Amino acid sequence: MDLASLLLLFLSSLCCSCCFGAAPPNFVLVFADDLGFGDLGCYGHPTSLTPNLDRLAAGGLRFTDFYCTSPVCSPSRAALLTGRYQTRSGIYPGVLYPGSIGGLPLNETTIAEVLKPLGYATAAVGKWHLGFGANGKFLPTKQGFDQYMGIPYSHDMGPCQNLTCFPPDVKCFGLCDVGAVTVPLMYNDVIKQQPVDFLDLENKYSDFATNFITTSAKKNQPFFLYYPSHHTHYPQYAGPGAAGKSLRGPFGDALLEFDNTIGNILTALEKTGVINNTLVFFTSDNGPELMRMSRGGNAGPLKCGKGTTYEGGMREPAIAYWPGTIKPGVTHELASTLDILPTISTLAGAKLPQVMLDGVEMTEILVQQGKSKRETMMFYPTDPSERFGLFALRLGKYKAHYYTRGASHSSTTPDKDCEIFAVLKAHDPPLLFDLELDPSENYPLSLEGKPDLQALLERMKRVKQQFEASMVFGQSQISKGIDRNLEPCCNPQCTPKPSCCRC
Ligand SMILES: *[C@@H]1O[C@H](CO)[C@@H](O)[C@H](O)[C@H]1NC(C)=O
Ligand SMILES: *[C@@H]1O[C@H](CO)[C@@H](O)[C@H](O)[C@H]1NC(C)=O
Ligand SMILES: *[C@@H]1O[C@H](CO)[C@@H](O)[C@H](O)[C@H]1NC(C)=O
Repeated sequence: MDLASLLLLFLSSLCCSCCFGAAPPNFVLVFADDLGFGDLGCYGHPTSLTPNLDRLAAGGLRFTDFYCTSPVCSPSRAALLTGRYQTRSGIYPGVLYPGSIGGLPLNETTIAEVLKPLGYATAAVGKWHLGFGANGKFLPTKQGFDQYMGIPYSHDMGPCQNLTCFPPDVKCFGLCDVGAVTVPLMYNDVIKQQPVDFLDLENKYSDFATNFITTSAKKNQPFFLYYPSHHTHYPQYAGPGAAGKSLRGPFGDALLEFDNTIGNILTALEKTGVINNTLVFFTSDNGPELMRMSRGGNAGPLKCGKGTTYEGGMREPAIAYWPGTIKPGVTHELASTLDILPTISTLAGAKLPQVMLDGVEMTEILVQQGKSKRETMMFYPTDPSERFGLFALRLGKYKAHYYTRGASHSSTTPDKDCEIFAVLKAHDPPLLFDLELDPSENYPLSLEGKPDLQALLERMKRVKQQFEASMVFGQSQISKGIDRNLEPCCNPQCTPKPSCCRC
């Protein structure tokens, strides 16, 4: 090294440690799949084994009133990464498929794109589910992530009956999507393995995540790691490190394997000395898939689950962990996945995207145990439309349901309101619940002789009208349909498809 570069090195080390304040914080965002409000030990599940998530909760801030924006996967992810309701970006109705023509529009700004101009290293590992598209044009590397490793959609979106989900050779439960190509494992835009080996998948993810942390920390580069896990979505799987080790069967083993990765991530943050300068945020994409019965998740005290706009469909476990900055505790403040982009942006000192955002920043909740800037939460169904608008709205502690409907994903519990046969029902006046007194939405409030509640409903109606007037629906990406030729195949010219796509 010559003298000039030595001097430069010396100056740059000076500038980062003294003159321009503390180094910008790192962010680790962990997003579980189909994990319900009642599934973690720290949220009261009696037999789940989640020592590392419980450790995050004990040393961090645990939310009781945290919401995702959709009771299904792709829209919930779109809102998480953009800070905007999925209706704006067009990620509706339902979810994207391997051959979907659409995807998260490239002109949407993701958290990774917010951080990139500040010199952050960015990586995504796990389940993307925001589109694949022609030549992989919707993959994470096109949305601000330097690197990606994972399955670009749900791991049941390909035939699975002959695949091994638990050692030594326990086949996956159920058929999964028999018509599609087997699920691929991608590194950036290249298919590395098809079908994926479920027994080794979590190991690969964990190694990728910890290597990324270690490499970035060694370079002194701030980083953003986005880890949307496949756990605990159907079909559950786990390698030898977790299989058979929980009291809760396949679901518990999958959850334990996920929890082990959280532990590895925390260890990497500790070993590299960046743990005190890193915000770790954990939450889940939507409620539990109750139709899988004891192999599905658990909504705890909440009503129904995945696919519905009841609390079980959209209220999620959430934990913010940042030793020395976030005081351990529990918060009942209202917050949402929408708020993560503005919060990260504030903490990093980044510019907000110049678009209509639905998120509000929550640094006061995190670092001062302060009040939420969020007063409302909007509940869109899996197939939002301008005609029906919101199905429900939460204002403060009250929630009004304008429409209710069950869902196949939530069938099989004794509650008849959750199942697919509970068809769309309009409520006028809306069904009104006090979620502080009745988080299970069991007892609609009677309006008779209650002018205060009638006035509240009037206010909620105005809030709803105002919000709906401000909502510009983006062109539906999912309605663009499916082209089977777009399904990722490691051997694109092979026949007969899809069974020849194996590498
Ligand atoms: C992205 O482009 C589409 C099509 O031109 C447009 O309708 C939409 O408003 C744009 N979105 C953003 C966030 O700029
Ligand atoms: C699974 O294995 C059975 C029996 O060998 C075979 O008939 C079937 O075609 C296989 N299915 C897939 C999707 O590979
Ligand atoms: C983080 O801060 C705690 C005190 O809050 C301290 O005990 C610990 O050594 C710090 N860890 C690192 C890696 O700096």
